Amino acid sequence: AEQNRQLRDRLMELKKERNAIILAHYYQRDEIQEVADFRGDSFLLAQKAAQTDADVIVFCGVHFMGESAKILAPNKTVLIPDERAGCPMADMVNVDGLRKLKAQHPNATVVTYINSSAEVKAETDICCTSANAVKVVNSVESDEVIWVPDKNLGHYVQQQTDKKMIIWEGYCNTHDMLTVKDVEEMKAKYPNAQFVVHPECRPEVVALGDFVGSTTAIIKYCRESDHKEFIVGTEDGTGYQLRMDSPDKTFHFATKYLVCPNMKVNNLKKLVKCLETMQPQVYVPPHVADKARLSLERMLQVK
Ligand code: 13P
Ligand code: SF4
Repeated sequence: AEQNRQLRDRLMELKKERNAIILAHYYQRDEIQEVADFRGDSFLLAQKAAQTDADVIVFCGVHFMGESAKILAPNKTVLIPDERAGCPMADMVNVDGLRKLKAQHPNATVVTYINSSAEVKAETDICCTSANAVKVVNSVESDEVIWVPDKNLGHYVQQQTDKKMIIWEGYCNTHDMLTVKDVEEMKAKYPNAQFVVHPECRPEVVALGDFVGSTTAIIKYCRESDHKEFIVGTEDGTGYQLRMDSPDKTFHFATKYLVCPNMKVNNLKKLVKCLETMQPQVYVPPHVADKARLSLERMLQVK
């Protein structure tokens, strides 16, 4: 506790010195969410990165999130606490694979989940997050959409749009691990609880949801709901904001395995160190960033 207090004090000094803001995804460790200027899901944090007038953005999340911040704010320094915090789902699609699919479906619009590399975004017409996926798909002019990389979110969106979606086979290890059996056991144990679930889970698990939505949507739903007890089908870091917003409500995570190991690579110590040393910085080659930026900016403009 004493060490954390010292780290927090040092962080406050460094933040001022460097004119930095700290953005933290809801899946980060509590010790990081506590000191963040903004907590959010991938959509909210991308918006914050695009709007900030700070000189330095410290992005506490996984690598693609830092890249998106750098792409949207190319003149800022973007720091990440640990370069090894990647997203396995983002790595499931590469440029070659996407180009092949585009050649097979020349009339399709490419809609890419923000969980993807800068290079893949540069081959993309428009990005989306789980918070705006249906709106983004419905906003494109073509009848056909190439969707990469999350098959589970893709299936969820397909149920809510008339567009024909060509869906890539990627998935999030953490969310995809949750099974119908896990959820049914929890429902039997907590019969009064509502099940809230992220659309990165398998379709048959999502089908059991009393509410389905992005991390922010789940947090908002639980805060505003009259229900007092919830079974939560998303990453366990979300518990920090859920409990803070609703101290009188009870949240049971659907399994103890709903933990993204990549998100947990970051910690308070590494956060302080990166502001101290101004390393590691996110770098995106300008010719990639310029193309990728269009796909992110198109997303931010969808109403
Ligand atoms: P959201 O932040 O859009 O809810 O996405 C979840 C996720 O897995 C981020 O890596
Ligand atoms: Fe990637 Fe899943 Fe971790 Fe999000 S929770 S960073 S999608 S592995």
